[in-house]
Amino acid sequence: MSQQDLPAVMKVEESAYDFPCSSSIMASNQKRYYCIVYEAESNGEILGYAILSTVAGEASVINIAVAPEAQRQRIGYRLMENMLAYAEGKQCMEVFLEVRESNRPAFTMYHQFGFNEVGLRRNYYPTHNGHEDAILLACYL
Ligand SMILES: CC(C)(COP(=O)(O)OP(=O)(O)OC[C@H]1O[C@@H](n2cnc3c(N)ncnc32)[C@H](O)[C@@H]1OP(=O)(O)O)[C@@H](O)C(=O)NCCC(=O)NCCS
Repeated sequence: MSQQDLPAVMKVEESAYDFPCSSSIMASNQKRYYCIVYEAESNGEILGYAILSTVAGEASVINIAVAPEAQRQRIGYRLMENMLAYAEGKQCMEVFLEVRESNRPAFTMYHQFGFNEVGLRRNYYPTHNGHEDAILLACYL
């Protein structure tokens, strides 16, 4: 992901989430972390992206999203594969992430990669009528 990709990445972010992150957070993440995009083979359009932090042998998935019209085509899976391979290359032993309790698509995908529940953050995420819990998942590499 380059700086020039940020407007297209924000388009995906805003269409994929009810509560998207701001463009300033995205720009700061792009500078700090390992960030990748998935581009359509036909026209190079950015259809998905993922962001990973690696610190002292521990990796954290900061964000992963696929444009709604491009979901269920294994793009999220391929982005995860790329990030896990990168984390392994950085000698990370474990990968962590947080997911909304209600986010079944993401849970199903993470379970395919061997993630398990290791914690709970109560009322962590906003919803349209309150808050919901975050489930902390982890997997060993
Ligand atoms: C989660 C997300 C990134 C998955 O991306 P995707 O490209 O649609 O997922 P894939 O096509 O690679 O699917 C991989 C596996 O995840 C599971 N999965 C994905 N979407 C699913 C859905 N809607 N329902 C059930 N399982 C689903 C399936 O097991 C799938 O494997 P299969 O196709 O062999 O059945 C995507 O749904 C998304 O961007 N959601 C909004 C943003 C988000 O919630 N990000 C995660 C925050 S923690």
